[in-house]
Amino acid sequence: MEFFEHLKSYLSEEEIILLKESLEQPSKHALLLNTEKMEEDTLLNIYPLLKKHPLVKNGYLYDKNVYDLGRSIYHELGCFYLQEPSAMVVAYLLNPEENDTVLDLCAAPGGKTIQASLLMNNKGVIVANDISKNRALAILENAERMGRGNLVITNNDFSLISDNYHTYFDKIIVDAPCSGSGMFRKNNLMEKDWSYQKVLKYREIQKSLILMAYHLLKVGGTMVYSTCSFSFEENEEVISYLLDNSDAEILPLNHPLFYVNKKCPYGVHLLPCIFPGEGHYLCLIKKKGVTKNQNRLLNKSKLSFNIVDNGYSFFTQYGPYLYLQDKALNLKPLNIIRNGVKVGKIDKNEIRYDYHYARFVKDFPNKLAISEEQLRRYYLGESLDINFPKGYVLLTYQNLHVDIAKSDGRTIKNRLPKGLRKKFY
Ligand SMILES: C[S@@+](CC[C@H](N)C(=O)[O-])C[C@H]1O[C@@H](n2cnc3c(N)ncnc32)[C@H](O)[C@@H]1O
Repeated sequence: MEFFEHLKSYLSEEEIILLKESLEQPSKHALLLNTEKMEEDTLLNIYPLLKKHPLVKNGYLYDKNVYDLGRSIYHELGCFYLQEPSAMVVAYLLNPEENDTVLDLCAAPGGKTIQASLLMNNKGVIVANDISKNRALAILENAERMGRGNLVITNNDFSLISDNYHTYFDKIIVDAPCSGSGMFRKNNLMEKDWSYQKVLKYREIQKSLILMAYHLLKVGGTMVYSTCSFSFEENEEVISYLLDNSDAEILPLNHPLFYVNKKCPYGVHLLPCIFPGEGHYLCLIKKKGVTKNQNRLLNKSKLSFNIVDNGYSFFTQYGPYLYLQDKALNLKPLNIIRNGVKVGKIDKNEIRYDYHYARFVKDFPNKLAISEEQLRRYYLGESLDINFPKGYVLLTYQNLHVDIAKSDGRTIKNRLPKGLRKKFY
């Protein structure tokens, strides 16, 4: 079946024409501000042509021909995350809170995880999982850059371990793998690659993911199901399947920019002919009943080091490495890529601080403000000839944390992870 033909299951002829026209328009882009690093006024002073997102707090639309934000210093220093404007509505409507235990089941490269972590003010915990190890490593890269500490990044097929986490999570994001029609404008290949068989194949995967995720949700908990597909089969039909096989309840969502399927009003579509984005579908689901706190917390075990911990209580040591968590989970058979913040490597009575910790920590005993020229050189992997007392020093640029480097009295040795070296334009 042809793509526009199959949309007739819920869109009228006129709506299909409008959608078709909108798919010929240029893509829309947005950023999510990290207010821990940069205030709104500062952002708007630097990029005065940003426009507020119609719904999402701290979200801004931008024109890629005006601002090449992916290559800016402020992006590298974790001041914002670049995210597709309709994708940003998903975690925003789920609204995770500071003390929540959240699961982002299909999390890579981490857009919704990062947004949830920002909404939670780096408190509580999010298990950010992806079945693909390579893709899960992309979550780690984004989490470090953005200074996120309340994440456990994992690489699992949850269907194999789901019984260990039955009714465990307060909130769950299921941003399911899909046929990807909401990516047509961004990536022409997606359109060439689209087939109705693919839609049907993903529908089956989505049905098993949503039912499994519901099993992991606490009584009284909330879950969001989303895809970047326009297909009824991958959206409303998957929700129908959940409703037929559980006691799930759909929560109402209202906004003039949302499109609701008139025949089957489950969830909402963010169509590019109505909403300034590439296209998304989402549905908020609740498990009936009252939430009970079922988390099993570990005991607090402080080490003798004097560490700025941003109010986090839990220290975990794996081999020589020290990690810090706000909410420590008793994690059964998970392949863990990162649990909380990597503080550094313990070497005799010293800690060799990690770049992740530099981005996360709110303050540090020794700080040094560097110039733009020095920042550029540091990012190229060079050491800096600066007289500074011996020891570890947090390098800052415009009060933004760059890295924790080590001074020998005359030189600040470069400790930036090699993979992050780059030239700024
Ligand atoms: C739409 S993408 C997720 C995008 C991500 N939520 C974000 O906002 O950046 C879907 C992801 O699901 C992952 N995936 C596919 N099957 C999965 C499964 N059974 N369990 C967990 N992740 C899965 C894919 O590797 C892919 O990274």
